[in-house]
Amino acid sequence: MKHWRIEDVAWERFDPSKVDPAIVPLVKAAAMVERNGTAYAIYLNNVFNDDPDFGRAANYWATEEVQHGEALGRWAMLADPGWDYRAAFARYKDGFRLPLESRESVRGSRTGELIARCMVETGTSSYYSALGDATAEPVLQQICRLIAADEFRHFKLFYDHMRRYLARERIGVLRRLAIALGRITESEDDELAYAYHCGNDPAGSRYDHPRAIAAYMAQAIAFYRPRHVERGTGMILKAVGLPPRGRLSDWATRLFWRALQHRRRRYARVAARQPARLAPAAMAAAGD
Ligand SMILES: [Fe+2]
Ligand SMILES: [Fe+2]
Repeated sequence: MKHWRIEDVAWERFDPSKVDPAIVPLVKAAAMVERNGTAYAIYLNNVFNDDPDFGRAANYWATEEVQHGEALGRWAMLADPGWDYRAAFARYKDGFRLPLESRESVRGSRTGELIARCMVETGTSSYYSALGDATAEPVLQQICRLIAADEFRHFKLFYDHMRRYLARERIGVLRRLAIALGRITESEDDELAYAYHCGNDPAGSRYDHPRAIAAYMAQAIAFYRPRHVERGTGMILKAVGLPPRGRLSDWATRLFWRALQHRRRRYARVAARQPARLAPAAMAAAGD
């Protein structure tokens, strides 16, 4: 049983006057990545092929991720009635491929795979908390809160399974930390950038990774507040086996906050150098 259904969202409360145009491209990109959860479930079932309990949990997890994509996609179509969620996702699925056939985790161990999953859920739980706090639009607020609650539960799911494998595989804290930080930096790879491109650039336009990731990150990081980073830092430390609260956590929170702001400024400079991108509707109006 899912914890909520699309029909539970109070769609009739949608208020176009409260839509922040800066949030819409981010929601479109997030809808793509979330909707792709079933592909990850195939990969996880391959890697954990002799663990049916985890396989079932991964399949259930994927249905929740797909629902996140459906809810975000539906909201984005309310905010931008000209946007076609299905067509954008079809482009994304076509162009972004995961190593689905792999029988071994790309992280080198099952513990490592589950730590990487914990990092993704840390990122998504803090991201939807930040978006939900930043938006004044009531439906998006509700969706973000529902999704964030799922993402915190997903963290717990992967964390519990990780502890089970850690007892067997006995991977040291430093290795676990390296895997965690490695997965965090991967957020700048193609998964999000390509989703931003498919969700926002006109069909058929060239994919420009530096431009797409800069546009995405500069805007996304701006919605974070220190409390979101503080909670996320505690989750990262917990996942790698370090104390989630106390001096180390305070220090790491300050470090992450500074690193995030530095990245936001750097990406904002890159994004500002790009020619202004017209929305498809505006291009049509301009006779392009
Ligand atoms: Fe999700
Ligand atoms: Fe999740």
